[in-house]
Amino acid sequence: MTAPQRPLDRLCQELTTVLGRDPKGKAVAALLERYAREEGDWAQWTFFDAGTYTRNLVHRSSLYELLILGWEAGQASPIHDHDGQHCWMAVLEGPMQEVHFRAAGPGAPLTQGALRTFERGEVAYIADEIALHRVQATPAARGVSLHLYSSPIDTCRTYDPTSGEARRLAVGYHSVRGVLCGEKSAASVRAEWAAV
Ligand code: SIN
Repeated sequence: MTAPQRPLDRLCQELTTVLGRDPKGKAVAALLERYAREEGDWAQWTFFDAGTYTRNLVHRSSLYELLILGWEAGQASPIHDHDGQHCWMAVLEGPMQEVHFRAAGPGAPLTQGALRTFERGEVAYIADEIALHRVQATPAARGVSLHLYSSPIDTCRTYDPTSGEARRLAVGYHSVRGVLCGEKSAASVRAEWAAV
């Protein structure tokens, strides 16, 4: 008898099909929303760290990368772009918040948009033509979010809100499918997934 497929793996298979057909279609958000509202197997692969939000890899291919991010109360990402890629965020445990920013020009402070709050099951989408953004857990509660990048993002640019100055940031992983990375580098994680 074969073991039942875990919901996260089923989601990955569905994403591979749907993103291969139509990378910007509404079907992507619908799949993430259904998973976020109905499933709970993400909890086994989610870690938290008092020092920073965690990036926990679920799946990576040339088409996309799927990560579970674990946020202690009040933790936030730096203001960043998305390296020209599509990015969806589905809230698994909330609320989570997002703030948009716009670069006004070299040396100028960023312009801040409204703060938006997303509850469990809600899905946000962003790309560079929409805005820069920062994601954060509220000061009162932990949050968990599911991030889909298509194509995968290995570096992005982060922004100082006062000077508008941008820096290139290499992103890494806290764990892979429930196993902590420890000293393992992001490059070796990616090399393993390239061979899958
Ligand atoms: C990340 O993937 O590390 C950033 C998540 C976000 O704030 O969009």
